[in-house]
Amino acid sequence: MSVQIGNIDLGEFPLLLAPMEDVSDPPFRYVCKQNGADMMYTEFISSEGLIRDAAKSRQKLDIFEYERPIGIQIFGSDIEHMREATEIATQAKPDLMDINYGCPVKQVACRGAGASLLQDVDKMVAMTKAVVEATHLPVTVKTRLGWDDNTKNVYEVAERLQDVGIKALTIHGRTRSQMYKGEADWRLIRDIKKNPRIQIPIFGNGDIDSPEKAAAWRMEYEVDGMMIGRAAIGYPWIFREIKHFFKTGEYLDKPTIAERIDVCRTHLIKSMEWKGPRTGIFEMRRHYSNYFKGVPDFKEFRMKLVTAATVEEIEEILAQVDKKYALEMA
Ligand SMILES: Cc1cc2nc3c(=O)[nH]c(=O)nc-3n(C[C@H](O)[C@H](O)[C@H](O)COP(=O)(O)O)c2cc1C
Repeated sequence: MSVQIGNIDLGEFPLLLAPMEDVSDPPFRYVCKQNGADMMYTEFISSEGLIRDAAKSRQKLDIFEYERPIGIQIFGSDIEHMREATEIATQAKPDLMDINYGCPVKQVACRGAGASLLQDVDKMVAMTKAVVEATHLPVTVKTRLGWDDNTKNVYEVAERLQDVGIKALTIHGRTRSQMYKGEADWRLIRDIKKNPRIQIPIFGNGDIDSPEKAAAWRMEYEVDGMMIGRAAIGYPWIFREIKHFFKTGEYLDKPTIAERIDVCRTHLIKSMEWKGPRTGIFEMRRHYSNYFKGVPDFKEFRMKLVTAATVEEIEEILAQVDKKYALEMA
C-alpha cells in the first residue's frame, strides 16, 4: 500500500534520507536522490536564526525542484518563534515542514529545543499545534523514544501529536540520554504502529545499514517506511541496494571504483556550484574517506584529496585512483 503524507504519495515502503547537520545539504541530497531516496529533509534549521535572518539559516532553505518531495526541518524552544519560522520556511516552498524533537546535543537540548521537549509534552503539543496552524503544508515530526530509560513516553507523544494534526512521525529508536550509543531499539516503534488510534505513517529510524537489516526490521517492526542517516554518508547507494533487495531478495553488486569516483565527482561539482569553489572544495574534504571506505591502501590518495586546493588537482587525483584500482577492483 502506498504511503501518503497529506497529498504526497511516497509509494510503497519509502526510504527517507535523514536530516543531518553539515551533511544533508543540497549537494549530498542530489546524490542520494539519484540513488533512490524517496523523500529527503534539510539539515535542521534554527527558528531563531531564521527570524534573525541569519545567513547560515537562510542558506539552508535552498531547495531544488529535483529534490521533491522534500521537507524543511526546524527546531526551537519558543512557540511564537517556531510559528514565525514556519511562515518563513513555508515561503521557500518545500513539500512539507518537519519539527525536530530529537536532537540530543547540549547546545540544542539544554536550551529547551530538540529532544528536551520530550520532557514537557504539553509544550511540545502546543508548539506542534502552532506550527500546524502556521502553514498550509503537511507537518511531520522527528523524535526519539523519550528523554531517558525511565521516561520513554513516545507512545503518548505519538497520539497527542497526531491529535493536533501532524501527518507522519519518524522515531529514532534511542532515548536522548543514549545520544548515539548502544543499539537502536525499535520495539516501542512497533507498539505505536500497532496502536489502533494511530492513523498516520510511522517511520523507523536508527542503525539501518544494510539491505538484510532493512528487510528483517521491516518484517519485525511493521513500520511504514525507514529513515536512513549515517549509512548514506559516502554511500548513497544504500537506498538502491535496499530497494533491490526488497524487490528481488538478492544483493545488488557493490558500486565499482568508477561509480564511486563518478558520484564523488558529482558531489564535489554540486558542492562547488552551490557553495562557491573555495567552500565547496573545503567542505567536500570530509566526504572522501567515506566514498572510498574499504578500498585498500587508500590513505595516500585520501591525504592528497583533502589537501588539494583546486578542482583540477582533485580531478587529477581521481584519475590516478581510477588508474590504480579500476582493474584490481573490477
Ligand atoms: C552528523 C549528524 C547530524 C545530524 N543532524 C540531525 C539534524 O539536523 N536533525 C535531526 O533530526 N537529526 C539529526 N541527526 C540524527 C539523524 O537524523 C538520525 O536520527 C540518526 O543518525 C540515527 O539514524 P542512523 O542510524 O540511520 O544514522 C544527525 C545525525 C548525524 C550523525
